[in-house]
Amino acid sequence: MKYEITKEETKETRMITVNDVSLNFSGQTLFKHVDLKFTPGNCYGIIGANGAGKTTFLRILSGDLEPTTGEVVISKDQRMSVLKQDHFQYDQYTVLDTVIMGNQRLYDIMKEKDALYAKEDFTDEDGVKASELEAEFADMDGWEAESDVSRLIQGLGLSEDILYSEMSTLTAKEKVKVLLAQALFGKPDIILLDEPTNHLDIQAIQWLEDFILECESLIIVVSHDRHFLNTVCTNIVDVDYGGIKMYVGNYEFWYESSQMMQRLIRDQNKKKEEKIKELQEFVSRFSANKSKSKQATARRKLLDKLTVEEMPASSRRYPFVGFKMDREPGKEILAVEGLTKTVDGRKVLDNVSFRVNKGDKIAFVGEDEIATTTLFKILMEELEPDEGTFKWGTTITTSYFPLDNSAFFNDCDLNLVDWLGQYTADNAEEGTESFKRSFLGRMLFSGDDVYKPVKVLSGGEKVRCMLSRMMLFGSNVLVLDQPTNHLDLESITAVNNGLIDFKGVVLFASHDHEFVETIADRIMEFVDGKLIDKMCTYDDYISGQRDEMLARLKG
Ligand SMILES: Nc1ncnc2c1ncn2[C@@H]1O[C@H](COP(=O)(O)OP(=O)(O)OP(=O)(O)O)[C@@H](O)[C@H]1O
Ligand SMILES: [Mg+2]
Repeated sequence: MKYEITKEETKETRMITVNDVSLNFSGQTLFKHVDLKFTPGNCYGIIGANGAGKTTFLRILSGDLEPTTGEVVISKDQRMSVLKQDHFQYDQYTVLDTVIMGNQRLYDIMKEKDALYAKEDFTDEDGVKASELEAEFADMDGWEAESDVSRLIQGLGLSEDILYSEMSTLTAKEKVKVLLAQALFGKPDIILLDEPTNHLDIQAIQWLEDFILECESLIIVVSHDRHFLNTVCTNIVDVDYGGIKMYVGNYEFWYESSQMMQRLIRDQNKKKEEKIKELQEFVSRFSANKSKSKQATARRKLLDKLTVEEMPASSRRYPFVGFKMDREPGKEILAVEGLTKTVDGRKVLDNVSFRVNKGDKIAFVGEDEIATTTLFKILMEELEPDEGTFKWGTTITTSYFPLDNSAFFNDCDLNLVDWLGQYTADNAEEGTESFKRSFLGRMLFSGDDVYKPVKVLSGGEKVRCMLSRMMLFGSNVLVLDQPTNHLDLESITAVNNGLIDFKGVVLFASHDHEFVETIADRIMEFVDGKLIDKMCTYDDYISGQRDEMLARLKG
């Protein structure tokens, strides 16, 4: 009998099956007994607190990490691609190479071929090897690779001209697009995306939403962005309570039903507790009384059977973010005069001048992130301007939250306590371990967590470290370049409140509408290098003020 694969079976074989997967890191269990099935045509949203284990779970799915127990089954011919959480990883490669690396084997062949042909003493053996590589290369449609890449890049709204630029010269938004192109290169069957909306502005997020809605691959995406999750997800996968559970429906549906479940367990527990109390009273009153002792025994038995279901502890918690300044700022805060800077042939700052007043909370908004990041780097003396000057007041102390924090963590072997210790003041109080631990505790690092090496921290945990570091400085001016990237909702709320309460001056960049609206009382935006500067809230800015300012700028 001939065996035919029916449609249903094809679908079955194309899925990912997770069987009894558990993961421990140095004795701590992130999740255990995870049994899940992922099928094509669906988009699964992985949610959970910072550090809950979302990236770790993706690494297990992609085969990058072995689970402590259990297995992940994916049929062999399925090609999988991954968008990692770290968008700065490919900085030293060209755009073309980065995208082709989406198909690692193809990339390796190309590099091996290049190395062979570059050899001065090309032997017969090398010739044989080269022809083998050429054959495999042709089999993989290697000759089409460059034009495929160029098509993808243009489809994503980027110009073909950037193919040979280094990744480090691109804006964060362009980088994500290139990395998305990498993840999509060669039509993978399974696409894993770890926080793709970080560094994307609203238009680009919408583009990605449309893309996912039309895509037929099996997609698994980690995100903290509620709107995005609601738009694209068919299922929600929650990493919490030491396990991973799947729910059908989008984020809102998950949220409502999980709240309901919690309430149900709580109500049931309350009823049971009342019953237990009643029984206990009865038993203690009547167990000495002969005529009632039979009843009392029966009730005691009942009592033994009643157990209050343990409410598992959630990993969703609020950190404490509070910035105190050691010294009040004087009247002179910052004066910027005629700053001009060209980056990669583009004038991102063009004769920019402004003065910062005491108490200003300035949000830098708009499309041109490079301009804002460049300005911040100049103000922090990491970059030299081409022209112009700036002057901080003599009473001013600053602390800076950079867009890319990898320099603080990569190749760093310190644990959390020692890492923070690099930034504590040289005095008896701040030098103690308990001082550092109390600081880390407010950022939700407790127990043995504080002895973890910082390089294993999750994206959000690294951000929490950077915030602890800033809180330590007691500065009166804070400069923050997109501080909410990577953070979960609880942490964003904490940072948001911390900045609202801060009595000093804040200069920050963010794409989060509510964050900007509730903190800023002054809005700045760079358009073609020119500064728009308006004392108003963000809502007022986008509903009219911006157009007026733009007209004045252009007129
Ligand atoms: N090699 C390791 N050794 C010990 N702990 C580790 C290791 N790798 C990761 N961890 C810890 O495991 C936890 C889960 O990390 P993971 O990166 O999966 O979190 P996440 O859910 O993706 O968080 P985020 O939302 O912040 O990106 C974190 O507390 C992290 O510090
Ligand atoms: Mg992560």
